Amino acid sequence: MGFLAILLVLTLGSMIALPRANGSSAGWKFAHATFYGNDDASGTMGGACGYGNLYSQGYGTKTAALSTALFNKGLTCGACFHIKCVNDDRWCLPGAITVTATNFCPPNPAQSNTDGGWCNPPLEHFDLAVPAFLKIGQYKAGIIPVKYKRVPCKKKGGVRFTINGHSYFNLVLVTNVAGAGDVVSIFIKGSKSNTWQAMSRNWGQNWQSGAYLDGQVLSFKVTTSDGKTVISNNVTPPNWSFGQTYTGKNF
Ligand SMILES: *[C@@H]1O[C@H](CO)[C@@H](O)[C@H](O)[C@H]1NC(C)=O
Ligand SMILES: *[C@@H]1O[C@H](CO)[C@@H](O)[C@H](O)[C@H]1NC(C)=O
Repeated sequence: MGFLAILLVLTLGSMIALPRANGSSAGWKFAHATFYGNDDASGTMGGACGYGNLYSQGYGTKTAALSTALFNKGLTCGACFHIKCVNDDRWCLPGAITVTATNFCPPNPAQSNTDGGWCNPPLEHFDLAVPAFLKIGQYKAGIIPVKYKRVPCKKKGGVRFTINGHSYFNLVLVTNVAGAGDVVSIFIKGSKSNTWQAMSRNWGQNWQSGAYLDGQVLSFKVTTSDGKTVISNNVTPPNWSFGQTYTGKNF
């Protein structure tokens, strides 16, 4: 009898839907959101992903700075998140937003995780541009509980490659990436070579190559975190120049 009772308990236990250990339900996870920058999001320009002027790069004001737990040292730059305010009748607005990760929200060890240190590890936190925050929560709230999930990024036009640096030090900023949005590897090829050369990530979504590529038509091979790869052949003319942006194919 004792054995059967234990068996029954085990069987029932496996039939009951237990809460997900990682706090997700149907792909949603829980986090918190605050806002930064000015009402017009001007204070969100620049940032740790290296995207520079977010208006001219097409990210607009639908952007977020991610806490350490989400930022993944910059590899999450470009990923898109769908976010809703939850469990707070006082401050939540019914809308939802989709934002692109464009910045890092640094930890603040001087403040506790429950009082100002919102971006401290291991907290998952979105520091939103003000216009994005105001679509899901009231300004007065300051901080709101949210649920979020990764979603595919929708972008207009192709992936953009902005070539900075100088000869033997090409620093390529990759922006406007659709699909998974977060780039995990880039290869570059000059027209005088048949081999793709791996670029290494310098900071944010700036990728570097030490090759001499002046005067060559350049091609790029970009892979995102979902394992998909898009090859953009002959993205530049041979007389490309530093500081210019060239457009390839998108995901
Ligand atoms: C959380 O758990 C669910 C269900 O087990 C799983 O599908 C999802 O990938 C997990 N998410 C993370 C980030 O671990
Ligand atoms: C590159 O070459 C093309 C064709 O010769 C020319 O029209 C264009 O002005 C050149 N661009 C630059 C930046 O020198």
